Amino acid sequence: MISAKDRYTGKHSIEVGSIAKTIGKYLGFGGEHLEMLEIAGLLHDLGKLAVPLKILNKPGKLTAKEFELIKVHPFYTYKTLSQVKGMEKIACWAGYHHERLDGSGYPFHLTSHELELESRIIQVADVLAALLEDRPYRRALTPQEIFQILRGEVEKGKLDAQVVEVGLKVVFQTAFQVRWG
Ligand SMILES: [Fe+2]
Repeated sequence: MISAKDRYTGKHSIEVGSIAKTIGKYLGFGGEHLEMLEIAGLLHDLGKLAVPLKILNKPGKLTAKEFELIKVHPFYTYKTLSQVKGMEKIACWAGYHHERLDGSGYPFHLTSHELELESRIIQVADVLAALLEDRPYRRALTPQEIFQILRGEVEKGKLDAQVVEVGLKVVFQTAFQVRWG
């Protein structure tokens, strides 16, 4: 459904699910717990279905008002999933993907003590996947640039230090095998 509406988010969601799963596995998650983490990654941008198509696929710069509308999507992800019995945890892990440990994220402005490890994993997986993708306005970033950006976010107190290090390790171990032999 997401692919039909927005050509980037479908592939991006699969990528986020896969990176989150790899990080979770490395951190010792298994069984249903790991599956739930992957599902949270796959569904993190579900709320984009509630954002008007015109804004979602707008080439060029968004106005402040349009950006505000886009920023509501994690709220809709949370709201939709939390209404499904048995998906309450997934609703949080997915719906908090734009939250940051220092409270500067959106839409709930949560801080570190409210953000579980699983939410932190989805946050890092989302940033990693986005930087690894070609976008209409830029090419995928180099590993060096990605290391610098992610570690910068840790220094600013936004992303979890351990999760970032594990994320960089697992992504570039795999990516080097696939992309650079
Ligand atoms: Fe998002």
